[in-house]
Amino acid sequence: MSSPAPITTTTRDLATLPTAQLLPDIFRQAPFGFLEQAARQHGSFVRLMVGPKPVYLVSDADLFQHVLRDEVKNYRKSPFLYNAAKTMVGEGLLTSEGDFWLRQRRMIQPQFHRQRIAFFAKIMTDAMDEVMQEWARTDTPDQPVELGARMAHLTVEMVSRALFGTHTLPLDEIGKLGQEMVAAANYVALRGYMPFVPQSIPLPGHGRFQQAMRRLTQAVNTIIAAGENGDSEGDNLINMLMEVVDEETQQGMTPAQLFDEVMTVFSAGFETTATALTWLWVLLAQSPEVEEKLRAEVSAALGDRTPTFDDLPKLGYCRQIFQEAMRIYPPIPMLPRTAQADDVANGYHIPKGTILLMFYYGLHHNPAYWPQPEVFDPARFSPAAQADGRHRFAYLPFSAGPRQCIGMDFAMMEGVLALAMLVQRYRVSLVPGQDMTPNLSATLKPRKDIYIHMTPC
Ligand code: HEM
Repeated sequence: MSSPAPITTTTRDLATLPTAQLLPDIFRQAPFGFLEQAARQHGSFVRLMVGPKPVYLVSDADLFQHVLRDEVKNYRKSPFLYNAAKTMVGEGLLTSEGDFWLRQRRMIQPQFHRQRIAFFAKIMTDAMDEVMQEWARTDTPDQPVELGARMAHLTVEMVSRALFGTHTLPLDEIGKLGQEMVAAANYVALRGYMPFVPQSIPLPGHGRFQQAMRRLTQAVNTIIAAGENGDSEGDNLINMLMEVVDEETQQGMTPAQLFDEVMTVFSAGFETTATALTWLWVLLAQSPEVEEKLRAEVSAALGDRTPTFDDLPKLGYCRQIFQEAMRIYPPIPMLPRTAQADDVANGYHIPKGTILLMFYYGLHHNPAYWPQPEVFDPARFSPAAQADGRHRFAYLPFSAGPRQCIGMDFAMMEGVLALAMLVQRYRVSLVPGQDMTPNLSATLKPRKDIYIHMTPC
């Protein structure tokens, strides 16, 4: 960490920033629309008057770099959101801080190394193959299906089989855990975005949250016990996590830590990817030229063959499409950070305790880095465009710095394989006239369910 710039007479006060003021009622009805509009109207650093104390909306790449990398030790994850998350994932990687987090990250990181996750490609494609065979058996021709549920079905199977293996619980039971996870995560998000309601007061959905947590706890403990008894097959993430030891202390994880990390990886791992794939299809279904180019790539690289890890370099356009979809709709659109001490950033004095809402969505739509930001154009991620001197912190769907997503390579592989296999088997079209406004929950989901036709090809 470099030493922060000194506060001088030219350092500006945060109160001089453009201010967006909104009645809490309007914020409650359309929180995401309010934030999006605030960034569009007032720029990349905005003072928001929502609750009793201002918070600051950041869509500026220099500030992202400052907070997430250069001065990362001064900006911790804000308790108002992460304390809510702790009721679900305890002290796992996502929610812990300081030396404890560092030790866990050091131990877990190697399990997500690119070479290590290559092993999961086959598990993923087998899972997708089975899910799509099930759809083929049960779908009624011409009957629309709900897009978000379809993508969650795919990713829950992929992540849970990688995490839990395929033998410990019946497969249909593993699939149901995804629904429990969504129910729990949505309640946690609601609690996190309503920090002024005391923890002792239950919010709507509390009973369902408790039920989901009971079921998840039971299932995860069963799977961990199977690993301890040697009853589960060797190569799954839980077994890998059981074996890791910290190089410095030569100690592994306690059972409680293992439980928290399993819950963390499961919760962080499938809804994000499902959300990315959902928006990807919304965009693709409206871009026939992009879709044709994609089909040409997949057909040349694979024909009808199932993709493997070694095919990934041949699926460069699939990757660009997945990247561009996450630019337009970052699954995690915003995360709060709190200043631990006074600081100066971008010429502003940031007093200790200031809450910065790191607005990934605003960053990805900032015209300073993205000409015509609303246009879906996967060529923005072509090798030539990438080499063209864009700000390194202008595109951060997986965040950046030491707290960057540990599952980034895993998710990219999942997204590309899923896209390639879906276009091999289906043509997708949107049912016309639907509301496709994004909405803030655990991830940036569509406000209403989106229906599609999936026509086998
Ligand atoms: C498209 C899919 C994904 C997106 C967009 C995404 C995005 C993110 C973001 C923005 C963060 C930073 C969170 C923060 O600062 O609080 C994060 C952290 C994390 N993600 Fe992901 N993620 C994805 C998939 C995955 C997958 C597949 C896994 C695991 C299999 C995973 C595991 C984690 C974990 C454990 C952390 C916490 C890392 C730490 O703080 O050390 N994510 N992710």
